Amino acid sequence: MSKDRLVIFDTTLRDGEQSPGAAMTKDEKLRIARQLERLKVDVIEAGFAAASPGDAEAIRAIAEVIKDSTVCSLARTGEADIRAAGAAIKPAARGRIHTFIATSPIHMEKKLRMQPEQVLEAAVAAVKLARQFTDDVEFSAEDAGRSDVDFLVRIFEAVIKAGAGTINVPDTVGYAVPAQWRERMRELLERVPNSDKVIWSTHCHNDLGMAVANSLAAVQAGARQVECTINGLGERAGNASLEEIVMAVRTRSDVFKLETGIDTRQIVATSKLVSSITGYPVQPNKAVVGANAFAHESGIHQDGVLKHRETYEIMRPQDVGWVKNRLTLGKLSGRNAFRARLQELGIVVESEEQLNHAFARFKALADKKSEIFDEDLQALMSDETQEIELEHYKLVSARFHSETGETPTAALTLSIGGQEKQTESSGSGPVDAAFRAIESVVQSGTELMLYSVNAITTGTDAQGEVTVRLAHGGRVVNGQGADTDIIVASAKAYLNALNKLHSNALKLNPQAETI
Ligand code: KIV
Ligand code: ZN
Repeated sequence: MSKDRLVIFDTTLRDGEQSPGAAMTKDEKLRIARQLERLKVDVIEAGFAAASPGDAEAIRAIAEVIKDSTVCSLARTGEADIRAAGAAIKPAARGRIHTFIATSPIHMEKKLRMQPEQVLEAAVAAVKLARQFTDDVEFSAEDAGRSDVDFLVRIFEAVIKAGAGTINVPDTVGYAVPAQWRERMRELLERVPNSDKVIWSTHCHNDLGMAVANSLAAVQAGARQVECTINGLGERAGNASLEEIVMAVRTRSDVFKLETGIDTRQIVATSKLVSSITGYPVQPNKAVVGANAFAHESGIHQDGVLKHRETYEIMRPQDVGWVKNRLTLGKLSGRNAFRARLQELGIVVESEEQLNHAFARFKALADKKSEIFDEDLQALMSDETQEIELEHYKLVSARFHSETGETPTAALTLSIGGQEKQTESSGSGPVDAAFRAIESVVQSGTELMLYSVNAITTGTDAQGEVTVRLAHGGRVVNGQGADTDIIVASAKAYLNALNKLHSNALKLNPQAETI
């Protein structure tokens, strides 16, 4: 890797997935991984193989299809973890094992209950074992921000000797401040023997809102890999946001003098996909990908931008993928045009049967909505894969009644495990009535944690995309549904979340009848 290249290591599918409720199915992870490949990230951390058989399976599936990015699995230093990671990345064109162990006094003493010498030995053994599976091994010193720098120097020297090619310095708890983080990276590069033989990496959490600033400070001190996530998703307050790091390095090339391999025009599409799959909305004023990131409200600003764009804009919206909704297909479009547009959008259709089914739904949508945009197709295909993957609960038909001064009601026909059931309820609004009607027959006992609606495109005929977050038995899942009728979209989203809980329940207990 050239010294002037900044490696972008995306951990949306691993650290990002650790956000509450952001757990993804294998299919959802595959869709994000394909989009990350289009974005041209260097490394995709696809998961933590030893965490669950589902995680291992998703990493393996990603390793099978991704050709242009390195596919990586996280692993603790234990033998079983390294072997699970090695097996999961085996099909990858380029596979990496990322092993980590905590190095701060508080973590070693209170969490690991290990002496520093034991930690050092475990790290070296893990790196040596990982090298039996791949030449590309990364080592992380968890909680490096609160670790003793002399110990870090020793452990990093030892793991480099054992064969690690990337050394990651994480601020696990988001405690660092930029000047101090820059100095830590500088000191490590100066003191660790053979530091010039490896790539130095940084991984910052955002607890004090400084993840991006700290990551960039480490880059200024010589780090050449940044670990980050789309939309800054991640454990607690999140990780450094990929789009902010990439655009800072590009826009301020006078300061950083580095390049990334990222196709920045894919940034907005990736942000939207991650947001819709995880159910984590992007705040309107979020840098780069927020809906208002390029909106000029004050008259003085508007006037300036109209006269000369650069008076108030330091980036061009089209360079990060902000484009007008693109009209793609209509009622008269044929099956071949539909297939071709899906291909252009990078949406993979597994079989002719799925294509036929999706095409029939596209025609039904085109009957209701004369103009079909790329975003509509993406939502339709997202619904489609959900139906194929998880269809224990399905909405067959719905009737709603809502009138000023009357109590709203919902009457639904559901298919549950292939059997049709009618259900009816009233509620404070039609959405509430629909959810109550579903619950009166499913009786899941779940808690509704979040309900949100977004318009997929502009116009009053736009499809509404609904996210519903449900919690049950310690698990939290997100369900999505899209329709031109937002009450139907809401019912679909609720059923999608129930399906996710149900499929997990079946995995844990195949005898389980209910959630
Ligand atoms: O925050 C952290 O320390 C991590 C490591 C596993 C790299 O996520
Ligand atoms: Zn982390």
